[in-house]
Amino acid sequence: MKFFIDTANLDEIREAQALGVLDGVTTNPSLMAKEGITGKDNIMRHYKAICDIVDGDVSAEVISVDFEGMVREGEELVEIDEKIVVKIPMIKEGIKALKYFSSKGIRTNCTLIFSAGQALVAAKAGATYVSPFVGRLDDISTDGIGLIEQILTIYRNYGFDTQVLAASVRHPMHIIQCAEVGSDVMTGPLSAIEALLKHPLTDIGLEKFLSDYKKGNA
Ligand code: E4P
Repeated sequence: MKFFIDTANLDEIREAQALGVLDGVTTNPSLMAKEGITGKDNIMRHYKAICDIVDGDVSAEVISVDFEGMVREGEELVEIDEKIVVKIPMIKEGIKALKYFSSKGIRTNCTLIFSAGQALVAAKAGATYVSPFVGRLDDISTDGIGLIEQILTIYRNYGFDTQVLAASVRHPMHIIQCAEVGSDVMTGPLSAIEALLKHPLTDIGLEKFLSDYKKGNA
């Protein structure tokens, strides 16, 4: 399973990249705003800065909600760097844009997916990735991981190439569950990735190994 980090924070992206297990980055307008990145030029520069840090795909979201606007923005975004994947919202105009970009060989990530039907249409339109929001579904007492599993089944049934990118991942158990059901990608915060490394018995065991070594090598 590919690990993407869901942030626009350059320090966190650097830290995740340094860990050596990062496969890409996802951003959205809220994450960009959180970092105080405003204005078209700054936004474009920031995407470039992210691309310069990571080896993998970087999702950059369009703001337009009409077909022409999405196409214009997407075409500008892919000029920034070959790592850019154009993130398109799951709306009617977005489906048309997915189809357009797919015919031009431009990679896309269809975001704000909350149902299997949405994922099916996005795949038919040629999306490279679909982003079902696991955490936001769990927030409303709906099974987010269940949706990932359902989409994977549908994609397997028909041999779609679209990759399932489990988004809105909040904690390490979400990551494990995504891996169990076979999600192609997950995107989450650095804290969730780092939490995978932790176990109290590892800390206790290491402390004992080191103290025993010190006793014999004082
Ligand atoms: C998807 O790519 C979004 O950026 C993101 O995963 C949303 O996560 P949130 O629900 O934690 O805001």
